Amino acid sequence: MTIKITGTGRALPEKTVTNFDMAKLVDTSDEWIRGRTGIAERRISTGDTVSSLAAKACAEALTMAGKDAEEVDLILVATCSPELLLPCCACQVQSAIGAHQAVAFDLNAACSGFLFALNTAYAYLQTGLYQNALIVGSEVLSKLIDWTDRSTCVLFGDGAGAAFIEKTEADEVCANGRTAGIEEMVMGSDGTKGMVLACAERTVSNPYFKETETIKPYVYMNGQEVYKFATRQVPACIKEALDKANLTVDDVDLFVLHQANVRIIESVAKRLKADIAKFPMNLDRIGNMSSATIPVLLDELNRDGKIKKGDRLVLSGFGAGLTYGASILVWG
Ligand code: COA
Repeated sequence: MTIKITGTGRALPEKTVTNFDMAKLVDTSDEWIRGRTGIAERRISTGDTVSSLAAKACAEALTMAGKDAEEVDLILVATCSPELLLPCCACQVQSAIGAHQAVAFDLNAACSGFLFALNTAYAYLQTGLYQNALIVGSEVLSKLIDWTDRSTCVLFGDGAGAAFIEKTEADEVCANGRTAGIEEMVMGSDGTKGMVLACAERTVSNPYFKETETIKPYVYMNGQEVYKFATRQVPACIKEALDKANLTVDDVDLFVLHQANVRIIESVAKRLKADIAKFPMNLDRIGNMSSATIPVLLDELNRDGKIKKGDRLVLSGFGAGLTYGASILVWG
Protein backbone atom coordinates (compact mmCIF):
# COMPACT_ATOMS: atom_id res chain seq x y z
CA MET A 1 0.00 0.00 0.00
CA THR A 2 1.23 3.51 -0.83
CA ILE A 3 0.18 6.78 0.76
CA LYS A 4 0.61 9.84 -1.41
CA ILE A 5 0.14 13.52 -0.69
CA THR A 6 -1.62 14.51 -3.90
CA GLY A 7 -2.54 18.07 -2.96
CA THR A 8 -1.40 20.83 -0.63
CA GLY A 9 -2.77 24.27 0.18
CA ARG A 10 -2.38 27.22 2.50
CA ALA A 11 -4.21 30.33 3.66
CA LEU A 12 -2.65 33.30 5.43
CA PRO A 13 -4.30 36.48 6.69
CA GLU A 14 -3.51 39.53 4.55
CA LYS A 15 -2.24 41.73 7.37
CA THR A 16 1.52 41.67 7.84
CA VAL A 17 2.85 42.87 11.21
CA THR A 18 6.59 43.61 11.20
CA ASN A 19 8.98 43.67 14.14
CA PHE A 20 8.93 47.47 13.83
CA ASP A 21 5.14 47.37 14.29
CA MET A 22 5.64 45.15 17.37
CA ALA A 23 8.07 47.70 18.80
CA LYS A 24 5.21 50.23 18.80
CA LEU A 25 3.17 47.88 21.03
CA VAL A 26 5.75 46.55 23.52
CA ASP A 27 9.30 47.33 24.65
CA THR A 28 11.15 45.33 21.98
CA SER A 29 13.19 45.82 18.81
CA ASP A 30 13.69 44.31 15.37
CA GLU A 31 17.26 43.50 16.40
CA TRP A 32 16.18 41.53 19.52
CA ILE A 33 13.41 39.55 17.78
CA ARG A 34 15.44 38.78 14.64
CA GLY A 35 18.57 37.90 16.65
CA ARG A 36 16.82 35.58 19.14
CA THR A 37 14.26 33.98 16.81
CA GLY A 38 14.91 34.76 13.14
CA ILE A 39 11.39 36.21 12.80
CA ALA A 40 10.99 39.50 10.88
CA GLU A 41 7.23 39.59 10.38
CA ARG A 42 4.09 37.56 10.91
CA ARG A 43 0.51 37.49 9.54
CA ILE A 44 -2.25 38.52 11.93
CA SER A 45 -5.98 37.93 11.50
CA THR A 46 -8.23 40.91 10.94
CA GLY A 47 -11.30 38.70 11.00
CA ASP A 48 -10.10 35.40 9.54
CA THR A 49 -11.06 32.49 11.78
CA VAL A 50 -9.46 29.08 12.30
CA SER A 51 -12.26 27.48 10.29
CA SER A 52 -12.24 30.04 7.45
CA LEU A 53 -8.46 29.72 7.03
CA ALA A 54 -8.68 25.92 7.25
CA ALA A 55 -11.46 25.78 4.65
CA LYS A 56 -9.46 27.94 2.21
CA ALA A 57 -6.34 25.78 2.63
CA CYS A 58 -8.43 22.60 2.14
CA ALA A 59 -10.08 23.95 -1.02
CA GLU A 60 -6.61 24.66 -2.48
CA ALA A 61 -5.37 21.16 -1.59
CA LEU A 62 -8.42 19.52 -3.20
CA THR A 63 -8.04 21.60 -6.37
CA MET A 64 -4.41 20.51 -6.68
CA ALA A 65 -5.39 16.87 -6.09
CA GLY A 66 -8.16 17.17 -8.71
CA LYS A 67 -10.73 15.92 -6.21
CA ASP A 68 -14.27 16.93 -5.51
CA ALA A 69 -15.13 17.72 -1.86
CA GLU A 70 -17.83 15.01 -2.00
CA GLU A 71 -15.07 12.40 -2.47
CA VAL A 72 -13.33 13.20 0.85
CA ASP A 73 -13.56 10.36 3.42
CA LEU A 74 -11.96 11.92 6.49
CA ILE A 75 -11.18 15.47 7.66
CA LEU A 76 -8.78 15.94 10.56
CA VAL A 77 -8.15 19.48 11.78
CA ALA A 78 -5.19 19.99 14.10
CA THR A 79 -5.69 23.16 16.12
CA CYS A 80 -5.22 24.54 19.61
CA SER A 81 -7.11 27.76 18.91
CA PRO A 82 -10.61 26.89 17.57
CA GLU A 83 -13.19 29.67 17.72
CA LEU A 84 -15.79 27.27 19.06
CA LEU A 85 -15.55 24.49 21.62
CA LEU A 86 -18.61 22.96 19.97
CA PRO A 87 -18.90 22.07 17.14
CA CYS A 88 -15.34 21.09 16.28
CA CYS A 89 -13.51 22.99 13.56
CA ALA A 90 -13.36 19.94 11.27
CA CYS A 91 -17.19 19.91 11.11
CA GLN A 92 -17.18 23.63 10.25
CA VAL A 93 -14.70 22.89 7.45
CA GLN A 94 -16.78 19.94 6.24
CA SER A 95 -19.79 22.23 5.92
CA ALA A 96 -17.83 25.12 4.35
CA ILE A 97 -16.28 23.02 1.58
CA GLY A 98 -19.27 20.72 1.08
CA ALA A 99 -17.49 17.47 1.98
CA HIS A 100 -20.77 15.90 3.10
CA GLN A 101 -19.54 12.28 3.04
CA ALA A 102 -16.53 12.92 5.28
CA VAL A 103 -16.13 11.98 8.92
CA ALA A 104 -14.70 15.06 10.61
CA PHE A 105 -13.06 15.71 13.96
CA ASP A 106 -10.32 17.80 15.60
CA LEU A 107 -7.08 16.82 17.21
CA ASN A 108 -5.01 19.00 19.55
CA ALA A 109 -1.31 18.28 19.90
CA ALA A 110 -0.35 21.99 19.64
CA CYS A 111 2.63 22.55 17.34
CA SER A 112 3.00 18.80 16.69
CA GLY A 113 -0.67 18.70 15.64
CA PHE A 114 -0.29 18.43 11.87
CA LEU A 115 2.28 15.66 12.21
CA PHE A 116 0.06 13.75 14.67
CA ALA A 117 -2.92 14.24 12.31
CA LEU A 118 -0.90 12.94 9.35
CA ASN A 119 0.11 9.84 11.30
CA THR A 120 -3.44 9.31 12.58
CA ALA A 121 -4.87 9.59 9.05
CA TYR A 122 -2.18 7.20 7.82
CA ALA A 123 -3.22 4.64 10.44
CA TYR A 124 -6.88 4.94 9.37
CA LEU A 125 -5.93 4.48 5.70
CA GLN A 126 -3.77 1.48 6.58
CA THR A 127 -6.69 -0.28 8.25
CA GLY A 128 -8.71 0.11 5.07
CA LEU A 129 -11.41 2.13 6.87
CA TYR A 130 -10.89 5.17 4.63
CA GLN A 131 -9.30 5.72 1.21
CA ASN A 132 -8.29 9.36 1.63
CA ALA A 133 -8.06 12.19 4.15
CA LEU A 134 -7.81 15.96 4.27
CA ILE A 135 -5.47 17.00 7.07
CA VAL A 136 -5.17 20.56 8.20
CA GLY A 137 -3.19 22.62 10.70
CA SER A 138 -4.97 25.90 11.38
CA GLU A 139 -4.42 28.52 14.07
CA VAL A 140 -5.43 32.03 15.06
CA LEU A 141 -2.93 32.34 17.90
CA SER A 142 -3.23 36.12 17.99
CA LYS A 143 -6.35 35.74 20.16
CA LEU A 144 -4.52 33.53 22.70
CA ILE A 145 -1.64 35.94 23.17
CA ASP A 146 -1.24 38.60 25.81
CA TRP A 147 -0.31 41.53 23.55
CA THR A 148 1.37 43.26 26.51
CA ASP A 149 3.75 40.32 27.14
CA ARG A 150 6.82 40.95 24.97
CA SER A 151 8.30 37.52 25.71
CA THR A 152 5.49 35.73 23.81
CA CYS A 153 3.59 38.18 21.58
CA VAL A 154 6.52 38.61 19.18
CA LEU A 155 6.76 34.88 18.42
CA PHE A 156 3.44 33.84 16.95
CA GLY A 157 1.33 34.32 13.82
CA ASP A 158 -1.92 33.12 12.25
CA GLY A 159 -2.47 30.83 9.26
CA ALA A 160 -3.45 27.41 7.94
CA GLY A 161 -1.96 24.66 5.79
CA ALA A 162 -3.57 21.51 4.41
CA ALA A 163 -2.64 18.27 2.68
CA PHE A 164 -4.81 15.73 0.89
CA ILE A 165 -3.54 12.18 1.26
CA GLU A 166 -4.66 9.22 -0.78
CA LYS A 167 -4.11 5.51 -0.60
CA THR A 168 -3.12 3.45 -3.62
CA GLU A 169 -3.39 -0.33 -3.41
CA ALA A 170 -0.17 -1.14 -5.27
CA ASP A 171 3.24 0.11 -4.11
CA GLU A 172 4.53 2.98 -6.23
CA VAL A 173 8.25 2.68 -6.88
CA CYS A 174 9.88 5.98 -7.89
CA ALA A 175 12.62 6.33 -10.54
CA ASN A 176 15.29 6.45 -7.81
CA GLY A 177 14.10 3.06 -6.48
CA ARG A 178 12.40 4.44 -3.38
CA THR A 179 8.82 3.42 -2.62
CA ALA A 180 6.46 6.34 -2.11
CA GLY A 181 4.76 6.66 1.27
CA ILE A 182 5.45 6.96 4.97
CA GLU A 183 8.48 4.86 5.85
CA GLU A 184 8.67 5.39 9.60
CA MET A 185 7.28 7.53 12.39
CA VAL A 186 8.09 8.35 15.99
CA MET A 187 5.75 10.27 18.28
CA GLY A 188 6.01 11.12 21.95
CA SER A 189 4.41 13.13 24.74
CA ASP A 190 5.62 14.29 28.14
CA GLY A 191 2.69 15.60 30.17
CA THR A 192 4.86 16.12 33.25
CA LYS A 193 6.31 19.23 31.56
CA GLY A 194 2.94 20.49 30.36
CA MET A 195 2.99 23.77 32.23
CA VAL A 196 6.15 25.12 30.55
CA LEU A 197 3.95 26.09 27.59
CA ALA A 198 0.31 26.48 28.54
CA CYS A 199 -2.89 28.44 27.98
CA ALA A 200 -5.95 28.15 30.24
CA GLU A 201 -9.53 27.69 29.10
CA ARG A 202 -12.47 27.90 31.52
CA THR A 203 -11.99 26.76 35.10
CA VAL A 204 -14.57 24.58 36.87
CA SER A 205 -17.64 26.64 37.63
CA ASN A 206 -21.11 25.24 38.33
CA PRO A 207 -23.84 25.51 41.02
CA TYR A 208 -21.82 23.16 43.26
CA PHE A 209 -18.25 24.38 42.81
CA LYS A 210 -16.32 27.45 41.79
CA GLU A 211 -12.58 27.38 41.15
CA THR A 212 -10.97 30.17 43.16
CA GLU A 213 -7.60 30.14 41.45
CA THR A 214 -7.99 31.84 38.06
CA ILE A 215 -5.38 31.49 35.38
CA LYS A 216 -5.25 34.10 32.61
CA PRO A 217 -6.48 32.65 29.30
CA TYR A 218 -3.31 33.64 27.45
CA VAL A 219 -0.24 31.73 26.34
CA TYR A 220 2.30 31.32 29.12
CA MET A 221 5.74 30.02 28.21
CA ASN A 222 9.04 29.25 29.91
CA GLY A 223 11.06 29.94 26.76
CA GLN A 224 14.33 28.50 27.98
CA GLU A 225 12.73 25.18 29.03
CA VAL A 226 10.99 24.90 25.66
CA TYR A 227 14.26 25.72 23.89
CA LYS A 228 16.14 23.01 25.82
CA PHE A 229 13.37 20.47 25.18
CA ALA A 230 13.25 21.19 21.43
CA THR A 231 16.99 21.15 20.80
CA ARG A 232 17.34 17.82 22.65
CA GLN A 233 14.13 15.99 21.69
CA VAL A 234 13.80 16.90 18.00
CA PRO A 235 17.19 15.53 16.87
CA ALA A 236 16.71 12.51 19.15
CA CYS A 237 13.36 11.56 17.62
CA ILE A 238 14.57 12.17 14.06
CA LYS A 239 17.55 9.92 14.77
CA GLU A 240 15.25 7.27 16.28
CA ALA A 241 12.99 7.31 13.19
CA LEU A 242 15.99 7.08 10.84
CA ASP A 243 17.48 4.21 12.86
CA LYS A 244 14.16 2.34 12.77
CA ALA A 245 14.09 2.73 8.97
CA ASN A 246 17.77 1.74 8.61
CA LEU A 247 18.53 5.15 7.11
CA THR A 248 21.06 7.86 7.83
CA VAL A 249 20.89 11.65 7.71
CA ASP A 250 22.55 11.50 4.26
CA ASP A 251 19.55 9.57 2.89
CA VAL A 252 17.27 12.55 3.60
CA ASP A 253 16.68 15.25 0.97
CA LEU A 254 14.70 17.75 3.05
CA PHE A 255 13.99 18.29 6.74
CA VAL A 256 10.63 20.07 7.02
CA LEU A 257 10.67 21.18 10.64
CA HIS A 258 8.23 23.09 12.83
CA GLN A 259 9.10 26.75 12.30
CA ALA A 260 9.45 28.20 15.80
CA ASN A 261 12.95 29.60 15.93
CA VAL A 262 15.90 29.67 13.51
CA ARG A 263 18.33 28.94 16.37
CA ILE A 264 16.43 25.75 17.24
CA ILE A 265 16.52 24.59 13.60
CA GLU A 266 20.25 25.37 13.32
CA SER A 267 20.93 23.50 16.55
CA VAL A 268 18.97 20.45 15.31
CA ALA A 269 20.96 20.46 12.04
CA LYS A 270 24.21 20.71 13.99
CA ARG A 271 23.32 17.88 16.39
CA LEU A 272 22.33 15.65 13.46
CA LYS A 273 25.49 16.68 11.57
CA ALA A 274 23.21 17.53 8.64
CA ASP A 275 23.69 20.24 6.02
CA ILE A 276 21.62 23.28 7.06
CA ALA A 277 20.79 23.80 3.34
CA LYS A 278 18.46 20.79 3.69
CA PHE A 279 16.34 22.68 6.27
CA PRO A 280 14.03 25.07 4.37
CA MET A 281 12.66 27.92 6.48
CA ASN A 282 9.90 30.49 6.17
CA LEU A 283 9.60 31.64 9.79
CA ASP A 284 11.25 34.99 8.97
CA ARG A 285 8.13 35.87 6.92
CA ILE A 286 5.35 34.24 8.96
CA GLY A 287 6.57 33.40 12.46
CA ASN A 288 5.37 30.45 14.52
CA MET A 289 1.83 29.38 13.54
CA SER A 290 1.85 26.24 15.72
CA SER A 291 0.17 23.31 13.90
CA ALA A 292 0.07 25.30 10.63
CA THR A 293 3.82 25.77 10.18
CA ILE A 294 4.70 22.35 8.71
CA PRO A 295 1.84 22.16 6.15
CA VAL A 296 2.34 25.80 5.09
CA LEU A 297 6.04 25.18 4.47
CA LEU A 298 5.21 21.92 2.69
CA ASP A 299 2.79 23.76 0.40
CA GLU A 300 5.35 26.49 -0.37
CA LEU A 301 7.98 23.87 -1.28
CA ASN A 302 5.51 21.87 -3.32
CA ARG A 303 4.17 24.84 -5.31
CA ASP A 304 7.69 26.20 -5.86
CA GLY A 305 8.70 22.84 -7.38
CA LYS A 306 11.27 22.19 -4.66
CA ILE A 307 10.01 18.67 -3.91
CA LYS A 308 10.54 16.00 -6.57
CA LYS A 309 8.99 12.57 -6.89
CA GLY A 310 11.16 10.14 -4.91
CA ASP A 311 12.52 12.81 -2.52
CA ARG A 312 12.77 11.64 1.07
CA LEU A 313 11.40 14.16 3.57
CA VAL A 314 11.60 14.19 7.36
CA LEU A 315 8.71 16.11 8.91
CA SER A 316 9.30 16.94 12.57
CA GLY A 317 7.45 19.00 15.13
CA PHE A 318 7.45 19.82 18.83
CA GLY A 319 5.27 21.88 21.08
CA ALA A 320 2.94 22.20 24.03
CA GLY A 321 1.99 19.03 25.83
CA LEU A 322 4.88 18.61 25.63
CA THR A 323 4.63 16.71 22.36
CA TYR A 324 7.10 15.82 19.63
CA GLY A 325 7.43 13.61 16.61
CA ALA A 326 9.13 12.82 13.32
CA SER A 327 7.83 11.09 10.19
CA ILE A 328 9.83 9.94 7.19
CA LEU A 329 8.00 10.31 3.91
CA VAL A 330 8.99 9.51 0.33
CA TRP A 331 7.16 11.91 -2.01
CA GLY A 332 5.10 10.09 -4.62
N1 COA B 1 12.23 42.10 23.30
C1 COA B 1 13.24 42.53 24.08
N2 COA B 1 13.62 41.88 25.20
C2 COA B 1 12.93 40.78 25.53
C3 COA B 1 11.89 40.29 24.77
C4 COA B 1 11.53 40.99 23.62
N3 COA B 1 10.52 40.61 22.80
N4 COA B 1 11.40 39.16 25.36
C5 COA B 1 12.14 38.95 26.46
N5 COA B 1 13.08 39.93 26.57
C6 COA B 1 14.08 40.12 27.61
C7 COA B 1 13.74 39.42 28.90
O1 COA B 1 12.89 40.24 29.67
C8 COA B 1 15.11 39.27 29.52
O2 COA B 1 15.48 40.50 30.07
P1 COA B 1 16.30 40.55 31.48
O3 COA B 1 17.59 39.84 31.18
O4 COA B 1 16.43 42.00 31.70
O5 COA B 1 15.44 39.83 32.46
C9 COA B 1 16.01 39.03 28.31
O6 COA B 1 15.30 39.49 27.17
C10 COA B 1 16.40 37.59 28.12
O7 COA B 1 15.21 36.81 28.22
P2 COA B 1 15.23 35.26 28.02
O8 COA B 1 13.85 34.72 28.19
O9 COA B 1 16.34 34.68 28.86
O10 COA B 1 15.66 35.17 26.50
P3 COA B 1 16.10 33.91 25.67
O11 COA B 1 17.47 34.07 25.20
O12 COA B 1 15.73 32.63 26.35
O13 COA B 1 15.16 34.05 24.39
C11 COA B 1 13.19 33.06 23.49
C12 COA B 1 13.75 33.99 24.54
C13 COA B 1 11.68 32.97 23.70
C14 COA B 1 13.46 33.64 22.10
C15 COA B 1 13.86 31.65 23.61
O14 COA B 1 13.83 31.22 24.94
C16 COA B 1 13.20 30.64 22.74
O15 COA B 1 13.24 30.74 21.54
N6 COA B 1 12.56 29.60 23.33
C17 COA B 1 11.81 28.64 22.60
C18 COA B 1 10.45 29.22 22.39
C19 COA B 1 9.64 28.50 21.36
O16 COA B 1 10.13 28.13 20.34
N7 COA B 1 8.34 28.37 21.64
C20 COA B 1 7.41 27.78 20.79
C21 COA B 1 7.40 26.33 20.98
S1 COA B 1 6.31 25.56 19.88
